[in-house]
Amino acid sequence: MDFELTEEQKMVQQTARSFAQEVLAKTVAERDAEERFPYDEVKQMAELGFMGIAVPEEYNGSGLDIVSYAVMIEELAKVDASAAVVVSVNNSLVCDILLKFADDEQKEKYLKPLASGQKLGAFALSEAEAGSDPGGLICTAGKVGNEYILNGTKNFTTNGSTADVVIVFATINKEIGHKGICAFIVEKGTPGFRVSKKEKKMGIRSSDTCELTFEDCHIPAENLLFQEGKGLKIALTALDSGRIGIASQAIGIAQASLDTALAYAKERKQFGKAISEFQATQFKFADLATEIDAARLLIYRAAALKDAGKKFEREAAMAKLKASQIAVRASDEAVQILGGYGYITDFPVERYFRDAKITELYEGTSEIQKLVIARQLLRE
Ligand code: CAA
Repeated sequence: MDFELTEEQKMVQQTARSFAQEVLAKTVAERDAEERFPYDEVKQMAELGFMGIAVPEEYNGSGLDIVSYAVMIEELAKVDASAAVVVSVNNSLVCDILLKFADDEQKEKYLKPLASGQKLGAFALSEAEAGSDPGGLICTAGKVGNEYILNGTKNFTTNGSTADVVIVFATINKEIGHKGICAFIVEKGTPGFRVSKKEKKMGIRSSDTCELTFEDCHIPAENLLFQEGKGLKIALTALDSGRIGIASQAIGIAQASLDTALAYAKERKQFGKAISEFQATQFKFADLATEIDAARLLIYRAAALKDAGKKFEREAAMAKLKASQIAVRASDEAVQILGGYGYITDFPVERYFRDAKITELYEGTSEIQKLVIARQLLRE
């Protein structure tokens, strides 16, 4: 067992850290306040190879491993959780799906430009009545000749209005439950596909979250991914990887919260001394640092298992559960330590506090992660 990152992984960490500090940091507060998508920043991340970091080079990716992916997302999220989720979704929920399930033509046409970051992707699974239970989705895909016709509405789609390509899940037969669900590649601009609502959010406000509507949207049959009826498996496979990404986003927010609170506590004087000298504050820091390390190790374990081609579903769920809990707690403690200054926008911790919550919700709520973990325990 080796707890050190490799030289290559350290290089990714340094590159992502410098980019986040030198580029994302300049505009993050403003973009958050204006709910503005990081268009220029995403272009620059594409140039750095971040948009398809674990996709092999033959498909225009960076050919790196999943540990590098986790390390990169953490560094981005330390500064900008919104930019981190844009990148995470493109990597895990779009490129990873195409790498595993697309045929050669689909890889050529879609994976290559998505992995290079020339195009951006989204993943449209959730619906108003199908969030934690995607097997209950009702968006339909009727087959007519050489086409599928999509009808229905998708909710909470990250990169929804900015994506060039969306992986859409719909059923060809509701009667047969999840065995009717299929995954389709849908291009922006396809007639019948529109962005019906842009969500206003508590946090990650510089990311783009939308409701998408499909009304008699004709998709060529060649845009079906893999096979009919395999859509739910495709989605759940992708979400296992996605959870490593969201766990990494969460740990970035947690670490940034701790770092900001530490720096503040060393400077802030009350009752004649720095508040870092009070044991009550020190114990908070010790607890947070320990929990953050524990969560990060869970993330690295899940990522290393995936890199080794082993099962990692439970480990990814554990990592996301733990990392999102500590993100919420660390950002809450950071606001507490900064006091009034934690509640105003002069310091970033109020943003960390707002950004942290989503990590307990998307790509499977904490309750879903517990369900995944418990099911496997009971099966053993
Ligand atoms: N990988 C691959 N296949 C899987 C799987 C996995 N991790 N887990 C289950 N499956 C398969 C099963 O084998 C089964 O297939 P067969 O019948 O052919 O064997 C099928 O999927 C259904 O399995 P279950 O009956 O076990 O499924 P379930 O209905 O009980 O649900 C669940 C399981 C764990 C609750 C799952 O539905 C789940 O993870 N739900 C949460 C969904 C989620 O994360 N939603 C977030 C959406 S995206 C988002 O957040 C927005 C964004 O843009 C970031």
